[in-house]
Amino acid sequence: MSGKITLSVIKADVGGYVGHSSMHPDLMNAAEERLSNAFDKGLLIDYHVTRCGDDLELIMTHKNGLDNEKIHKLAWDTFVSCTEIAKELKLYGAGQDLLSDAFSGTVKGMGPGVAEMEFEERKSEPVIIFMADKTSPGAWNLPIYKIFADPFNTAGLVIDPSMHGGFKFEVVDVYEHKKIILSAPDEIYDLLMFIGAMRRFMIKNVYRKSDGEIAAAASTQKLSLIAGRYVGKDDPVLIVRCQSGLPAVGEVLEPFAFSHLVEGWMRGSHHGPLMPVPFYEANPSRFDGPPRVIAAGFQLCGGKLIGPRDLFDDPAFDEARKKANEIANYMRSHGPFEPHRLGLDDMEYTTMPQLMKKLEGRFVPE
Ligand code: 13P
Ligand code: 13P
Ligand code: MG
Ligand code: MG
Repeated sequence: MSGKITLSVIKADVGGYVGHSSMHPDLMNAAEERLSNAFDKGLLIDYHVTRCGDDLELIMTHKNGLDNEKIHKLAWDTFVSCTEIAKELKLYGAGQDLLSDAFSGTVKGMGPGVAEMEFEERKSEPVIIFMADKTSPGAWNLPIYKIFADPFNTAGLVIDPSMHGGFKFEVVDVYEHKKIILSAPDEIYDLLMFIGAMRRFMIKNVYRKSDGEIAAAASTQKLSLIAGRYVGKDDPVLIVRCQSGLPAVGEVLEPFAFSHLVEGWMRGSHHGPLMPVPFYEANPSRFDGPPRVIAAGFQLCGGKLIGPRDLFDDPAFDEARKKANEIANYMRSHGPFEPHRLGLDDMEYTTMPQLMKKLEGRFVPE
């Protein structure tokens, strides 16, 4: 055990209420009880259970490091017991994200999304945990870029000598199972070439260049790539550390004032605006959307999670919400046409192969 603290955010959709729109309180109570037991046994320093849409979010601090079997098993067992309740209540898609029957050392590759980071807690340690529903991990690429590489977003990149050197981005190619580290500002054009293609390339971690300090960690699990078919979207999570040589809280929130287009929404098959909302508004209902993001702010104190503060509960984000509704109307007007509907590559696990098979014999040379 090191003196470092690990912050683990592990999430799964274990059943929606009603449909895919939200979460039944019984599931949250059951998760709370599980984590409370683990806390009593000393496995966790602290925990917070929350949800975004139909996704159950377990926020945990501990001293066991990354990819720890005990922590991952705790999360897995929690999802399994919540699935049982979801089945009893016949909630929608009970156990949706649990793609395996048995735990095998890590939840990675089994369906749940994971973002974790280990660090030495600073004199003051503000962190923001972003949680999204009805979208996919690539949704974080644009805001992460703005936070850590765009001086028009983050004044600190220019003003604060301790981050003037820039940041390193670890980018994962989720199709090829490869990763590369690219450096900003010197390699931003290379970086953007990759992360602009957010279906394939995802920013997993961000490090401060001057000392290698971890600044952000995102979940990059893609369910369809694990399951080999469409099984719901991979509603992602992202942890960002703030202040004192890292972007300020306001700089980290700022990119979300622009509701950028992400993939997800109805049946995980459409592009729509990512709407920043307070916790109580994270119930995507219109056409199962539009996609939502919430931001839970905590001050860490010896690993204790002081918070959360509901950071999008601020009228300064009203315009973004209004704009997101306008964009939602505009995109919806396209109905089943691209680019509202995702391109064929992304539909390959849905109806297209079946339709092709059915009509195979009717295709004739042009
Ligand atoms: P830090 O220098 O502690 O990051 O604070 C910056 C600030 O004042 C926020 O705008
Ligand atoms: P979730 O991934 O949030 O379960 O949504 C799936 C879906 O099909 C929504 O229409
Ligand atoms: Mg669901
Ligand atoms: Mg969901």
